[in-house]
Amino acid sequence: MSVKQIITLKNSQGMKIKLSNWGATWLSCTMQVEGKNRELILGCQSFEQYEQQDAYLGATVGRYANRIANAEIDIAGKHYQLIANQGVNQLHGGKSGFDKKIWKIESQSEQQVTFGLISPDGDQGFPGELKVTASYTLTDDNQVIVEYNASTTKCTPVNLTNHAYFNLDGETNDILAHSLKVNANYYLPVDANGIPCNDLLDVTQDDMDLRQLRVLSDNLLTSPARKITGGYDHAYLLDKSKPVAAQLVSSDKKVTMDVTTSYPALQVYTGNFLANTPNRHNGKYANFAGVALEAQFLPDSPHHLTWPQPSCFLEPGQTYHHQITYQFFIS
Ligand code: BGC
Repeated sequence: MSVKQIITLKNSQGMKIKLSNWGATWLSCTMQVEGKNRELILGCQSFEQYEQQDAYLGATVGRYANRIANAEIDIAGKHYQLIANQGVNQLHGGKSGFDKKIWKIESQSEQQVTFGLISPDGDQGFPGELKVTASYTLTDDNQVIVEYNASTTKCTPVNLTNHAYFNLDGETNDILAHSLKVNANYYLPVDANGIPCNDLLDVTQDDMDLRQLRVLSDNLLTSPARKITGGYDHAYLLDKSKPVAAQLVSSDKKVTMDVTTSYPALQVYTGNFLANTPNRHNGKYANFAGVALEAQFLPDSPHHLTWPQPSCFLEPGQTYHHQITYQFFIS
């Protein structure tokens, strides 16, 4: 069935999330803050607008999130040319990535929905038929748990994530006065195209340290690393000895979100190119309207097999399983 649908999950605390089978997309996330409904993620007004934007708002991104340099991979001596969609590189799975597909609703209840997708052998150039599920669970203690499962018929790289942009102020301001903490000792330097251009570096280099809560506007465009990308658009290698990967705090300090994940890395993207993305109020978002915290493998991992993380390649007979939890607190 190729009909776009909206599914609403609600919990006993009055929290509500909306999802769609189009791109297995997270459309909306509202909570009561001081008696008022506050929207915590960015979104558009209509499916037409979702189809026009290229910011991947709330989408499930795959088969391979982030960039693959030169849109090519080699597996067991075989070369695969992938579909390039950002210059010569591939971004977020190619021109027709998982964010643009209609997924099947496999199961649905008050507080959970599971979407399923079959990505055929050769989809966007990738080898193997990949069967994927993405499920969202809303718990009564205000967690949104996202789980991915996948299996393949041929060895293929897999990197599935969610591309929600958070604005815990309720979209009233940009996110520059939010504070962010990321438990990571290393980050990956990238060139102007977002392609890793060096090995992992200590976060103390280039002022990339987020190990203590830091206001996002703090020296945002003065560090050479962030100048290149117009803000944060970097992968952090998570310190797995710390239970929480990241913490985001609204500028009024009333909403906090903790991110925990099974993934080795987190892409921090401050919405540096969000300008002109349609918003849900008949207008357009500006740059820095939201921050995406995308748990994933390091970008371009298929070309960097020695990086300290599990393999991003899925083999036939293996099951891909990863989880991202967003825990919200109101004070
Ligand atoms: C990337 C950005 C890109 C954005 C929207 C992020 O994951 O890191 O460079 O502009 O997605 O495509």
